[in-house]
Amino acid sequence: MKRIVILISGRGSNMEALLRAERAGELPGAQIVAVLANTPEAKGLSIAAAAGIATQVVDHRAYSERSAFDAALLAAVQAHAPDLVVLAGFMRILPETFVQCFAGRLLNIHPSLLPAFPGLHTHRRALEEGVRIHGCTVHFVTPALDRGPIVIQAAVPVQDDDDEDRLAARVLAEEHRIYPLAVRWFVEGHVLADGNVALRAKKPSQTREAHPAALIVPTP
Ligand code: GAR
Repeated sequence: MKRIVILISGRGSNMEALLRAERAGELPGAQIVAVLANTPEAKGLSIAAAAGIATQVVDHRAYSERSAFDAALLAAVQAHAPDLVVLAGFMRILPETFVQCFAGRLLNIHPSLLPAFPGLHTHRRALEEGVRIHGCTVHFVTPALDRGPIVIQAAVPVQDDDDEDRLAARVLAEEHRIYPLAVRWFVEGHVLADGNVALRAKKPSQTREAHPAALIVPTP
């Protein structure tokens, strides 16, 4: 079984989507072994605990030195011997040591079609820029923030009467759809990071036909 550790900072809806996928048998060969948060207020912690998953808080406010928090987080994650570390709304920037330690087995979801709109407030910025297509991206994490090989993206058309909340909700629904798929592809060995691109090593078990509502663009 491939061991998955999920890192969250808040609501945890992407984590919940992954838990649901696991329970539904959609992540064969994988087991979510722990959910870690950098704050005890992360709402997703109680959802994970209710699902019987081990939870742990490494509170960044408890460390006066950034490097001490980084070391504690790395040790906490390593203690679970993960094959894959999944960032699901984890809002701390990871140091290079962490990223290097899990290189090629560290995934993140970002609420934009990267490389457009890295960083925060992606939906607001998309509306301000007047883009007609927005969306979300699952990518391998590299030391450069919100860069790294793209595994999968889902496109969401912007509607004329969209505000930040409405657009965010439609993007989030796509996040919940593509993250379990990306994790499944990784677990099954279908995608791997190779320089700047994610390669599809074998034909994925699920194709875009399984997701007719989303424009899903697997990497070549
Ligand atoms: C999600 O929209 C995720 O894409 C975003 O935070 C939200 C977390 O929601 N992540 C980032 O912005 C990372 N740069 P969730 O806690 O309900 O999964």
